[in-house]
Amino acid sequence: MIQAMFRIAQRNARPGARIVLTLVAVASLFGCHQDMWNQPRVAALQRAEFYPDTMGSRGPVPGTVRYEGIRRRWTAPVFDGLTGERNVPLLTDTTFWTGKTPEGFLPDNYFTLTRALLERGRDRFEVSCMPCHGLVGDGRGVVAQRGFPNPASYHTDRLREVEDGYIFDVVTNGFGRMYSYASRVAPEDRWAIAAYIRALQTSQNLDVTDRNSTLAQLVVGGLKEQEQAKAQAAPATHGEAAHEETAHGEAEVNHAQ
Ligand code: HEC
Repeated sequence: MIQAMFRIAQRNARPGARIVLTLVAVASLFGCHQDMWNQPRVAALQRAEFYPDTMGSRGPVPGTVRYEGIRRRWTAPVFDGLTGERNVPLLTDTTFWTGKTPEGFLPDNYFTLTRALLERGRDRFEVSCMPCHGLVGDGRGVVAQRGFPNPASYHTDRLREVEDGYIFDVVTNGFGRMYSYASRVAPEDRWAIAAYIRALQTSQNLDVTDRNSTLAQLVVGGLKEQEQAKAQAAPATHGEAAHEETAHGEAEVNHAQ
């Protein structure tokens, strides 16, 4: 509208006045911003006379709770039982949060190994890791079978010897082509998964006579229970057992394809 008016004025003006009008028209396109750009404000750490102590950067409001003070609940009740605590540890417990001690990765698990911890680990493993690493951790999960780079099998001497803290760290920060699962797997669940991976490794390389190994005994206990359950179920469900065999046969055919 203003520009249209200028155009009419330009047509009727003398050449000298035309140049002036053109300049005014061009200038009118700019410069509406100034008062928004030049607001009174304080840069970080700048002096500010507004406050009695003249410090531009203000401290936290009285009563502010430190972030470390807010502790969420564990992701599962099993951790209450293991620690006698309702909430996750403080951020100052760096071993829990990073898997590391000043000497390096924590060699064993952060938690005491129990059946309940392994159950939790299996549950989380089957949700977050199994698609790539496979049911027994041999690296042949469905995602890998569909073309994702093959994850290493857990059943190698090198991975049998790494610390639990190292496994925790792989989940936290990723490793090579495996990306971080920190946003998807809570730290306590990373520890539970690390325990379960140890159990998988033990189960694939089991020394049943090793009475000193909690893991070996937990795995042996679990296998015995499964056998008992099968033995109890067998006589009553004869027909079903036959059915199971067929299903098993089919599964094998599928696998071979
Ligand atoms: C999307 C697929 C994928 C998922 C899901 C996945 N991984 Fe991996 N993982 C890989 C691949 C691929 C490698 C090998 C990376 C490489 O060598 O570059 C690997 C390697 C590893 C290694 C071996 C590291 C080493 O030192 O060789 C561990 C341990 C591991 N993963 C644990 C886990 C755990 C625990 C989870 C679940 C929380 C998980 N991964 C989920 C793909 C995956």
